Amino acid sequence: MHALSLFSVLGLCVTAFSQSATVDQYVTTESPIAKAGLLANIGPKGAKSSGAKAGVVIASPSTTNPNYLFTWTRDSSLVFKTIIDQYTRGSDTSLRSTIDDFVAAETTLQQISNPSGTVSSGGLGEPKFNVDLTAFTGPWGRPQRDGPALRSTALIAYANWLVANGNTSYVTSKLWPIIKLDLDYVSTFWNQTGFDLWEEVSSSSFFTTAVQHRALREGIALANKLGQTSVVSGYTTQANNVLCFLQSYWNPTGSFITSNTGGGRSGKDANSALASIHTFDAAAGCDAATFQPCSDKALASLKVYVDSFRSIYGINSGIAANQAVATGRYPEDVYFNGNPWYLTTAAVAEQLYDALIVWNQQKSITVTSTSLAFFRQFSSTVAAGTFASSTPTFTTLTTAVKTFADGFLAINAKYTPSNGGLAEQFDKSTGTPLSAVDLTWSYAAALTAFDARKGVVPVSWGAKGLVVPTTCSLNTGPTVQVTFNVVATTQLGENIFLTGSVDALKNWSPDNALALSSANYPTWSITVAVPANTNIEYKYIRKFNGVITWETDPNNAFTSPTSGTLTRSDSWR
Ligand code: NOJ
Ligand code: NOJ
Repeated sequence: MHALSLFSVLGLCVTAFSQSATVDQYVTTESPIAKAGLLANIGPKGAKSSGAKAGVVIASPSTTNPNYLFTWTRDSSLVFKTIIDQYTRGSDTSLRSTIDDFVAAETTLQQISNPSGTVSSGGLGEPKFNVDLTAFTGPWGRPQRDGPALRSTALIAYANWLVANGNTSYVTSKLWPIIKLDLDYVSTFWNQTGFDLWEEVSSSSFFTTAVQHRALREGIALANKLGQTSVVSGYTTQANNVLCFLQSYWNPTGSFITSNTGGGRSGKDANSALASIHTFDAAAGCDAATFQPCSDKALASLKVYVDSFRSIYGINSGIAANQAVATGRYPEDVYFNGNPWYLTTAAVAEQLYDALIVWNQQKSITVTSTSLAFFRQFSSTVAAGTFASSTPTFTTLTTAVKTFADGFLAINAKYTPSNGGLAEQFDKSTGTPLSAVDLTWSYAAALTAFDARKGVVPVSWGAKGLVVPTTCSLNTGPTVQVTFNVVATTQLGENIFLTGSVDALKNWSPDNALALSSANYPTWSITVAVPANTNIEYKYIRKFNGVITWETDPNNAFTSPTSGTLTRSDSWR
């Protein structure tokens, strides 16, 4: 070996060594800060919980630019999953009363009628509430269908622990009813469009579908355990349908998971890494059917996602193409001008730590043609194959992946201010913290990434050995016929169309809007099968010589009946 290359190998080792020491240090100092920061944002006693009711998680104490003093079902559920896991692992037994407060708060929230509906007509998809447990009625991207799934996953973790510790009666009487409401919601509505986790795109979304699938599987297992067998066959049918649909997000040409079916973006998004870590089940190995963190598809996707930020953030410039960089929600993001987020950068690290847990557990690593580009970052000569833990290739790859993973936490460490506070974002050019301060989800994301780095293996949820059905049934659920009549005077060559918030109304697409018949002019008319018992918004549009004119705001809105038919009689606005 030439002196120079020996020197550079030593240099790399020294870098990796000192980076690992830096990250050790960060984990040690940041862990208690993150834990305290998280608890400070939970009412009523949290120091920053600003009037939140008991068990209510505020997203952040920030009240202006942005105002996050609300409780989101997604954020709260991810935060409480972290808390419940700590409690059930025995890491912190003082958390019990906080968990019971959360159960009580969510039991109340489920029943609050809100702009997405009532508890039985879709209201569980409401994304956020006021911190005093009343409905938030302002305009918002609603519904968001990941919330009930994430909440039931948190509650099921608690329920499983209680059953194992002799408290089945409480689970049956108090937890199962609220878990069942959420799972019934998932089972009924999974195939309907909703806003993604970033509250921006109304379509189907990989993260949402993945967490819905997980919730149904562990719900089935809990139902069997509790003897609540009447739900089992319905949930099983839908879980298989969801698993089948989940496969459709894979883009084989680009070798990544397309995060949303709508939205007109590249599809490269933290959505997929977050889905992998929140559906991690070490018992499933590197199974690609559930996009496990070490599956070839999830690793390929991770690379494409990470690489999409290399050239767009100033703080990433000059960093080698195979080293960690700051990552954000998705490259096209413009929120606060589009910046890296702590929780997304931590999610990349966590996915890689999860992968390492499985490779070390199964004592081998498999490289496929799909994951080759990911692994070539660390060994330019590696080829597809399976490498046992006794081989140098296994050592090279796992060592490099560990260094790569630590690199993402080192980035967060570098841009964490000296008081350890974690905001939502950090500036893409200066690294200064930005947007909501003390984001509860940022703290939870730090804690779960740290645990994964320590090798903590989460409880299995039943991902092992699942078989993807060969043909997908989308089970659109019950529909009802709705006739839309609108009185509209038009000029020759001008036509009236309809579009709205559900698939059947073409998801607000003016291009695909449904053409109405002018047989009863000036009344234009169409009858459409829409999902039953659903809040639906819609507008009529005019098309004349290629020019599209929308009706004025607000949207027209109604709740479709559970059965029978309905006629809407409108006048063009
Ligand atoms: C736009 C952001 O992109 C979205 O994620 C956020 O939830 C809303 N604004 C509200 O702050
Ligand atoms: C905006 C994020 O995009 C969304 O995911 C989150 O739920 C809210 N902020 C609250 O933290």
